[in-house]
Amino acid sequence: MTDKATLTIGDKSYDLPILKGSTGPDVVDVRKFYGDSDHFTFDPAFTSTASCESKITYIDGDAGILLHRGYPIGQLAEESSFLEVCHLLLNGELPTADEFAKFEHNITYHTMLHAQFDSFFQGFRRDAHPMAVMTGAVGALSAFYADSLNVDDPKQREISAHRLIAKMPTIAARAFQYSQGRPFVTPRNELSYSENFLRMCFSVPAEDWVPNPILTRAMDRIFILHADHEQNASTSTVRLAGSSGAHPFACIAAGIACLWGPSHGGANQEALEMLEEIGTVENIPAYVQGVKDRKYKLMGFGHRVYKNFDPRAKVMQKTCYEVLEQLGINDPLLHVAMELEKVALSDPYFIDRKLYPNIDFYSGITLRAMGFPKEMFTVLFALARTVGWISQWKEMFEDPSRKIGRPRQLYTGATQRDYVPVDKRG
Ligand code: SDX
Repeated sequence: MTDKATLTIGDKSYDLPILKGSTGPDVVDVRKFYGDSDHFTFDPAFTSTASCESKITYIDGDAGILLHRGYPIGQLAEESSFLEVCHLLLNGELPTADEFAKFEHNITYHTMLHAQFDSFFQGFRRDAHPMAVMTGAVGALSAFYADSLNVDDPKQREISAHRLIAKMPTIAARAFQYSQGRPFVTPRNELSYSENFLRMCFSVPAEDWVPNPILTRAMDRIFILHADHEQNASTSTVRLAGSSGAHPFACIAAGIACLWGPSHGGANQEALEMLEEIGTVENIPAYVQGVKDRKYKLMGFGHRVYKNFDPRAKVMQKTCYEVLEQLGINDPLLHVAMELEKVALSDPYFIDRKLYPNIDFYSGITLRAMGFPKEMFTVLFALARTVGWISQWKEMFEDPSRKIGRPRQLYTGATQRDYVPVDKRG
């Protein structure tokens, strides 16, 4: 089995080492290639580029496999809890009972926000998109934690990771309550992570809040499904921002900003709006024709890596059925979604392009049934993905060969020319 690739340019040949992982594609190591050849490699959207070495999440797009530290996403969604998955992603192993108790206590006792921080939200209009609030709020939190600025100190990295995992539900719930004109709700230490979040979102001072185990289990499973996903756009953003040594809260704010885009995490809101626009099963053929005519994309469909099926989408679909049935909700949009999926999966236009439902296709219907407005869908994605972002950020700092990320370019602009005074310009 060869352990190098040879690239020939003109009369020169360059040997490039091939590095092997524990599974998945090998990589051609081009780190020294520019220095040896005076050529850059060119891969603007990173379609063929491994940006880092990682042990956290493995995806096989053709086989529809997603592993977190080796554990299949389907097993984690069925058997585990979001907080246990947080421990797994951060520390590499499923916790013992004692380790989990300690981890859960740490997270629970970091859920509160500085009292002064509540006034930060007042600067937004009530109709501000909650993702704008999240981007601003999480970035602003870096002003409150000057005690964890040394990103080279493992203890300070750990406290930042725990604070972020713990405080994201409190911030997200505040963004939601603020948009609804309701008072903020403080976290309760006797509640589980997902119960606490749902209470902070939906409880009102006028009555006692009663936990709903169906919603709690669904929320926790949805968080698990969104926790991490290899080097996606927002994770790569967090890694690149973190590579300069920036404050971790500011790096997570950068990840939130990237996730908001409709091609990425913003697709869950767009997918529901698409289903609302289609409205009925009878309108599907005309809408699909519009996709084929390239007027718009089928939101919640397609993926850069998954070219067979997104394993999370299957669990999300099952969760959607369960939640609607257990809540006794008959949402006509679910029928539209199921029919749209059936039509798309049998149409050569989508088959030829390997377009299948991704995690965003069914999540919106489920979240709406749970009481969330569509503007909150990507906020929930960001809440869950925070553990993935901060685990990847932490892993980057544990790599002794870490350097600031600094890509180069193929320059096609003007070559050097002299300045022309304004009275001499044509
Ligand atoms: C997430 O990377 C991750 O892991 C992301 C994520 C995570 O957990 O972090 O999984 C979360 O972001 C899921 C994706 C959510 N986005 C959407 O659902 C938006 C709709 N999907 C597309 O925008 C698109 O599929 C992407 C962005 C997800 C992937 O795009 P790629 O890999 O760059 O593929 P492409 O644009 O090169 O498309 C290949 C072809 C093109 O047609 P041709 O020009 O070859 O004829 O497929 C077409 C595209 O036009 N195409 C679609 C389509 N997605 C791709 N056509 C219609 N509808 C779509 N959804």
